[in-house]
Amino acid sequence: MAKEQTLSIIKPDGVERNLVGEILQRFEQNGLRIVATKMIQMSRKQAEGFYDIHRERPFFGELTEFMSRSPVVVTVLEGENAVAKHREVMGATNPAEAAEGTIRKDFAESIGENTVHGSDSLENAAIEIAYFFAKIERVNAG
Ligand code: CMP
Repeated sequence: MAKEQTLSIIKPDGVERNLVGEILQRFEQNGLRIVATKMIQMSRKQAEGFYDIHRERPFFGELTEFMSRSPVVVTVLEGENAVAKHREVMGATNPAEAAEGTIRKDFAESIGENTVHGSDSLENAAIEIAYFFAKIERVNAG
């Protein structure tokens, strides 16, 4: 198994409901280590840049409005198979399909406001981490 890094976002609905500590604790309890974290509020343009691959989707406007509505917590998580492990802990994108005990099953209210985001591949993790964090903000990043 390989040690990986992935990007996690606690979305506005999670921060607004004071779930930051509980969600970060679930990552740690599942063997993921926090190597960088911060709270930011994205502008609409920054949210559009982050979700650029979804620009043509019908929900793009709704998604970027939501993601820039209030602060988010962006975190770099590290661990064995971190990309897949993080996705497992989050649960399916649509909370109606998420497994018992996952973050989205327990907290998400809709597919749009689904509490957390996680990179879907190692390649996208590197792109997403670089979108939010400079090398100097990541411990042991050289
Ligand atoms: P996320 O993992 O952040 O990546 C893209 C996001 O688009 C996804 O989570 C959902 O929150 C959102 N999304 C996907 N499908 C829909 C949809 N049908 N309607 C609204 N939002 C969606």
